[in-house]
Amino acid sequence: MDLFDKLEGRPGPLGEFTSEGYGYYTYPKLEGPIGPTMQFNGKEVVVWSVNDYLGIANNPEIRDVDVKAARDHGFSAPMGARLMTGNSDAHEALEDELAAFEHKPSAFLLNYGYQGIMSIIHALVDRNDFLIYDELSHACIVDGKQLAMADKSVFKHNDIESLEKQLARAKRNADENSSTLVVTEGVYGMTGDLGKLREIVALKDKYDFRLLVDDAHGFGTMGEDGSGTGTHLGIQDEIDLYFGTFAKAVALIGAFVATEPRVVEFLKANVRSQIFAKSLPQPIVDSARERLKLIDEHPEWRDQLWDNALKLRKGLRDIGYNVLPSESPVTPVLTQGSTELCTDIMRKLREEHGVFVSGVAYPVVPKGTVLLRLIPTASHTDEHIEQTLNAFSAIKDYVFARGAEVEAQA
Ligand SMILES: Cc1ncc(COP(=O)(O)O)c(C=O)c1O
Repeated sequence: MDLFDKLEGRPGPLGEFTSEGYGYYTYPKLEGPIGPTMQFNGKEVVVWSVNDYLGIANNPEIRDVDVKAARDHGFSAPMGARLMTGNSDAHEALEDELAAFEHKPSAFLLNYGYQGIMSIIHALVDRNDFLIYDELSHACIVDGKQLAMADKSVFKHNDIESLEKQLARAKRNADENSSTLVVTEGVYGMTGDLGKLREIVALKDKYDFRLLVDDAHGFGTMGEDGSGTGTHLGIQDEIDLYFGTFAKAVALIGAFVATEPRVVEFLKANVRSQIFAKSLPQPIVDSARERLKLIDEHPEWRDQLWDNALKLRKGLRDIGYNVLPSESPVTPVLTQGSTELCTDIMRKLREEHGVFVSGVAYPVVPKGTVLLRLIPTASHTDEHIEQTLNAFSAIKDYVFARGAEVEAQA
C-alpha cells in the first residue's frame, strides 16, 4: 500500500481535531504584539494561553535588545554546529550565566528544549542502565525514553511508593556496570502540580541514582530568585541535571541543562541533536543573555505573576469552578464534560466574552472531563482578570448543566 494513502486512514490522536478545527481550536493565529490582549479572528481577546510568564515578550527594553542583536550579527551567524564552526564567546558566556543563575557549576546550551532533553536522555544511559520516569512526563521525556537503550520503567505520577518499587527492581537487577537515571518534572505544565522532588531526593540515601529534572515551567517562575522548582523546594543542590527552556519565562527559543562540568564535557561530545544541528543564532544568544540579566534584576515581574495567578484562581474558585491545587502559576480548571463541551466553552469564551482560553478533553484527560488551562502572566492587569472572571461566571450555568448531562450519560 502506498504510504501516503495509508496515512489518510490513520490521522493520529490529534488528526481529527487538526482538520476539523483548523485555525480555531488547533493552529489558531493570535496576532499583534505578544501580550495579555491580542487579535484573534479580527477581534481583541484577553489571552490566557501564551507561556510568556513574566510578560517580557513585548517589553520595550527587550525589543530594543533584540533589534540591536539582529543588527550587530544577523541571523546567520554563527554558521554550523557548535562542535564544528558554530561556537562563539557569547554562547559560552551564556552557559556561564545560566550556570550561575541556577547555582550550578556549569551548563550546556541546547538549540531546542524538546530535542535537547530527548537527546540528553539518549546520551546519558546505555544498555546496562536503568531509566525510571514519571508517567505524566512531557512528550520529550517519553521520546527520549524511546531512544534510550536502557531498561525503562515508569512510576505512577508523583507516587513515591511506585518510584521506590522501580528503584528496588533496578537495584536487584543491577550489575557493577549499571547506573540509574530518574527523570521527573519540576512543574507539571498541564496541572501545575510540582514533582515531589524532596521525597525523590530523600531516596538517594537508600538507592544509588542520578536525578534529571525538566523544569520548563519552573525556570524563571519558581523560587525566590527564579532559579526554579529545586530552589523553591530547597533541594536545588540535589538535582544532578537541571533542565530549563527559554520557551516559557524567557519568551525566546533555546534551552539548557545545568550540571557538573565533567557531565557537560560528556554532553558536548555526545548529545547528537546538538552535535549534528546548527547552533543557536547569535541574536538569540545575545537576547537570551540580556533577558536573563533583566529577569535577575526584576524580581517584581515574578511577584506580579504570582499576584495575578492567585487572584485569578481565587476568583474562579469563588464562582464555583474546580481549580486543581496547582503550586505554580499554571491555573487548571477541571470540569465534567465531553470534547463537544470543551470546544463549546472555548468558543463561547472567545466569541461572546473576548477571552481566549485553551482546553483539552479525552484522551489528554480522562473520559468525561474537560481541562481548561489558564497561563497567567505578569502583564495581565486586574481588568483582564475581571473580564475573565465575568466571562466564566456568565457561562457557568451552561457549563455545569452540560457537564452534569455528560456525567448522567456515563
Ligand atoms: C515540560 C516541557 N519540557 C520540554 C519542553 C520543550 O521545550 P522547547 O519548547 O524549548 O522545545 C516543553 C515545552 O515547551 C515542556 O512543557
